[in-house]
Parts: sequence; C-alpha cells; structure tokens
Amino acid sequence: MNVGIIGAGTMGIGIAQVAATNGCKVLVYDANAKQVETATVGLEKTLAKLVDKQKISAEKMTEILANISIATELKDFKDCELIIEAIIENKEIKTKVFTELENHVSESCIIGSNTSSISITSLGAELQKPERFIGIHFFNPAPLMPLVEVIPSLLTDKSLPDKIYNLMKEWGKTPVIAKDIPGFIVNRIARPYYGEALRIVEENIATPEQVDDAMKTLGNFKMGPFELMDLIGVDVNFSVTTTVYKEYFYDPKYKPSLLQQRMSEAKLHGRKTGKGFYDYSEGAEKPVPQKDEVLYDDIFHRILSMLINEAVEAKRLGIASDEDLELAMQKGVNYPKGLLQWGKEIGYDLVSEVLENLYDEYQEDRYRQSPLLRRM
Ligand SMILES: NC(=O)c1ccc[n+]([C@@H]2O[C@H](COP(=O)([O-])OP(=O)(O)OC[C@H]3O[C@@H](n4cnc5c(N)ncnc54)[C@H](O)[C@@H]3O)[C@@H](O)[C@H]2O)c1
Repeated sequence: MNVGIIGAGTMGIGIAQVAATNGCKVLVYDANAKQVETATVGLEKTLAKLVDKQKISAEKMTEILANISIATELKDFKDCELIIEAIIENKEIKTKVFTELENHVSESCIIGSNTSSISITSLGAELQKPERFIGIHFFNPAPLMPLVEVIPSLLTDKSLPDKIYNLMKEWGKTPVIAKDIPGFIVNRIARPYYGEALRIVEENIATPEQVDDAMKTLGNFKMGPFELMDLIGVDVNFSVTTTVYKEYFYDPKYKPSLLQQRMSEAKLHGRKTGKGFYDYSEGAEKPVPQKDEVLYDDIFHRILSMLINEAVEAKRLGIASDEDLELAMQKGVNYPKGLLQWGKEIGYDLVSEVLENLYDEYQEDRYRQSPLLRRM
C-alpha cells in the first residue's frame, strides 16, 4: 500500500515507522524540510537501538528505511492510497493542507487526520469529498502504544471505519471505533485522572506525591496523575483539558485547574523543562510521600469514581461499544483494567455514593452522576 504522511514531527515519523514496518511504501512530507531530515536521522537511531536490543534484525531495519521516502511537495502524494496528516494542531492550517492535497490525489485516496482535539466533522466538511475523510488517532509514541481511535465524521462513507479498523489490525495495532466527540474516548474519559488530582492538591487535601502513591498502590496505575502530567507535559495536558472544556460548552466536569495554568505559565512543564510537579534536575530527590491509609483510600475512591462515572456516561451516549471503551483505556493510557469492569468489582453503588457525597459537599454540577450509573 502507498501511504503518505504529512508532518514529520513526533507523531508523523512514528506513524511512518509503523506503516513502513508493515510493508507499506511511505512518503513523508513536512513544510519544514529540515524537520524531515532530523526526523529521519532520529528514526535511524531508534531502529539501530532496536537492532542492538535484538528486537528487530538488521535486515528489517534496512527494509523499513528503504520503505520510507521523502516528499518535497504535496504533488508527490498523487499515487497514495491513504494519507495520514499529523501536522500542527490548528484547524485553519490543516484545512489549507487538505484543500491543496485534494487537487493532487486520486478520487479513491483516503485522507485521515491524527488530530487529538479538532472535530473530525468540522475538518471533513471542508473537503471536496468529505466521505473519504476520517480520524485516525494514534497515541504517543505511535510505534509503541497499541491503541488507535478510528473516528468517522458525520459525513464519512459508512464503509470506511471498518476498512481503517482492519488496516490498523494488519499493522498490529488495537483499533477502536469512536464517535466524533471532544476528546474522543481516551482524552475524554481520562480527564478526571488529572482534574480531580489537581483539585485535591489545590485544596491542600494531599500533596502530589501522596496522590500519586495512592493511585499506584491502591489502584495499580503504572504512573500517578502528577508523574503522568510531568511526562505528557503540564502545558500539553492543560491545553487538552482547556479544549475539551470549551468544546463541551463549558461543562464544569471538565473545568481546568488554576494550579495547572500557573504551572504552564511558569514553564514548569515537567520532564521536558526539567521541573514540573517534580524536580528532574541532577541530584534532585523525589519527595517521599507521607503514607496515610484513610487519606489514600479517600483519594483513590474519589478519582476512580469520577473515572468510572465518565466511562458509564460514555457507554450511555454510545461513544463506543463497551468492549472498545474498556480496550481504549487499557491500550491508550495503560489503565490496569477497564473502568466498567472496575465499577462492577468495587460496586456501582459505592461509586454512586462517593459522587453523592462529593456533590453534597461541593454542590457543584461537576459531581453529577451519569443517569445510567444508578441503573448499573
Ligand atoms: N504529541 C502527541 O502526544 C500527540 C498524540 C496524538 C495526536 N497528536 C496530534 O498529532 C498532530 C501532530 O502532533 P505532533 O506532536 O507530532 O506535533 P509536532 O510539533 O511534533 O510536529 C508537527 C509537524 O508538522 C509540521 N507542519 C506544520 N505545518 C505544516 C504544514 N502546513 N504542512 C506540512 N507540515 C507542517 C511541522 O513542521 C512539524 O514538523 C497534532 O494534530 C496533534 O494534536 C499528538
């Protein structure tokens, strides 16, 4: 298959690697020619490391690199059967690229976008042939994270989601099909993991290290919310939350945190700037959390109940099948189990009670329960 990738940044080059590893001929284009070079050199280094670790053979590395070529203009995409766009997260710029692209590609060429937060329908509607357009949302790092959310717009051809779903399976990914709603599956359902954790710290109920410790020890999460925000980038996480909040017409459930805004303003972005909720400079020691059984239990149940409530609401709205909702959280953000299953295990009555108590205390719509929760 001839695949085109537009944008050779973090995601674009990762997706190119996935396609090339699976035998596709891949053309990569970036508006910044230097970026393609940097990305290709980076990819060579990544592959060489995989050879050193005996994860792939030297022949496979040669094959992958031979499958990737550089395009110097969008015209070069004329023979592509599938093009995945992974450029800057800006609707106007993406639309401009699609408009030009459609002048060069064949009638049957499928165009996908890796956007995290722009409505697929709003992008697709600007195309001459909106039925060929679909969201294909990989997670970072694309070669390692199994999940791919496949998101048809209201105008996408009805047969296209299954086609892309099957292709992603062939590429060794775990695809799920999601409705075109802000945050799709993962970035919507996971919001309370960060939002509620930030709130707990903002209200001086606990420290970041206590929240992280509680979620890891009681919930078996691989990383606590603050460790994860530092990894993702505090600024990036803040921007996703802000977008989701606006796109849901300012639903208080997704209200961003002032603490996170201040951290972003201060460029305390986490690992990439050397300091976030934790200090990553040389010799810095991670604070040791003060263990507190009752507090940990409260933190864990508060955050988990908010997450389960989100999953139940997503089920109620038919954002994806139950199976896909469960898979998405496990394969996209490494949750130790699906949230619907988790709700069953701890008891939906308990989840409902935790939310009711929070609502009683705060009198905020943020803690409203999904109408489905009481019927679960
Ligand atoms: N980084 C993530 O964790 C992540 C995860 C999933 C999805 N996404 C989405 O993937 C897309 C790309 O994100 P990224 O993190 O790879 O960004 P990035 O900044 O690493 O790369 C974007 C690339 O696009 C290029 N570009 C900008 N305008 C262009 C144009 N008009 N034509 C061609 N190339 C252009 C830039 O030169 C840059 O190399 C965004 O839509 C983002 O929302 C990102």
